[in-house]
Amino acid sequence: MLLAISGSLPTVARATADQEHLPAAIYTADGETIDWAKVKGMFTLASVRRHFNTASISPSPKVVQDKTIETIRYVNRYGLEAHKRVEPVRLKLGQLLNAPPAQLAITRNTTEGMNIIARSIGLQKGDEVIITNQEHVGGAAPWLTLQNEIGINVIVIDINSNEQNTCTLLERAITPRTKVISVSHITCATGYVLPVKDIIALCKKHGVQSVIDGAQAVGQVPVDLGYLNPDFYAASGHKWLYGPNGTGILYLNKDFLQNTGPLFSGAYTDRTFDLDAGIIDYVQTASRYEYGTINAPIMAGLGAAVDFAQSMGIAQIADRCKQLSTRFYIGIKGHKNITVLTPKKEKYRAAMVTFRINGTPSAEVCRKLIQEEATVLRNVHENNLNAIRASFAIFTSEEEVDELVARILAFAEANE
Ligand SMILES: Cc1ncc(COP(=O)(O)O)c(C=O)c1O
Repeated sequence: MLLAISGSLPTVARATADQEHLPAAIYTADGETIDWAKVKGMFTLASVRRHFNTASISPSPKVVQDKTIETIRYVNRYGLEAHKRVEPVRLKLGQLLNAPPAQLAITRNTTEGMNIIARSIGLQKGDEVIITNQEHVGGAAPWLTLQNEIGINVIVIDINSNEQNTCTLLERAITPRTKVISVSHITCATGYVLPVKDIIALCKKHGVQSVIDGAQAVGQVPVDLGYLNPDFYAASGHKWLYGPNGTGILYLNKDFLQNTGPLFSGAYTDRTFDLDAGIIDYVQTASRYEYGTINAPIMAGLGAAVDFAQSMGIAQIADRCKQLSTRFYIGIKGHKNITVLTPKKEKYRAAMVTFRINGTPSAEVCRKLIQEEATVLRNVHENNLNAIRASFAIFTSEEEVDELVARILAFAEANE
């Protein structure tokens, strides 16, 4: 019943026996093909709402909501914190990302992961960090704040129309002072899928640490950390994984975990804690970043989100959402008043399309669509791009894509 995963990456973990109840609900009668209308039916989004903004925040399917609520009821029934409930979730994430669970922490979001990384690497005044001009504030601010605080230098590379030679541009920017290259796996602004495998290899060649902001990648495309082998990787659960708001994932390399202390410490960071002797030392697993009392219900919900995704297979999800985004891309790209900013080349795009209606303020279009038609898009104000981003999710139908194409073309026509 479960489908094979295609693509050149090593196999990403698939559904296990305890997830079998989900596929039965979403496969067509032949048991082989996913019925996307049934998948849509597993969400509780208001029927009038057209949500094309999964890249910002996504609704969760009912199974995820139920698991979260059930865990809230459980902790309240017994008066528990339920820290232990995190461990099975970590195992599921390890399977999803092909990473050792001991190297994965569950955080609140990508931003928290990026801040933990930036502040733990041990950068000093004069050290250089290379980023791109398409980084989200959550991926860029941690470095810029260190620039303010301790005087590191953040070098920003313009990749807006340079997807063919991003690696070359990054390599040219490396100097003897470069300590880190920090880039998005998929950019927030235009949905550009960066060649992160090559960028990580470049970092290794030059002895530079690779930090990948995977906020847009995990769930949108298969992510295999064993294959990519970055030094650090941060992601969110509440975007393309359809998990609860306020969930994130942080991957740290083994060397770092063994040789660096935690950024914050408290209960669950300590391996030895003896107040009489005045000593503390630390667990060497990423779980040390889940210090103190945690929000176990949303973490349990994240586990249910991983089960939900695995029951279909990330490769199937990625194919579906890319097909929808390609349908939209083809629908709008020929219009003379529309400029598509998402890369043309197949391999550099996934389930997001960013475009501009020439001469029209994008904020105005987004405002009209939400107010008049309950259609949610994202205004891309970053970099003065004056553009609109549409995300295509597993609950999006072909009809909704076609309606959106018609609506955008009408805006473009009106502007002739
Ligand atoms: C590339 C990228 N990084 C970081 C973030 C911040 O994510 P979060 O709010 O989950 O920290 C986003 C959010 O859209 C993003 O697109």
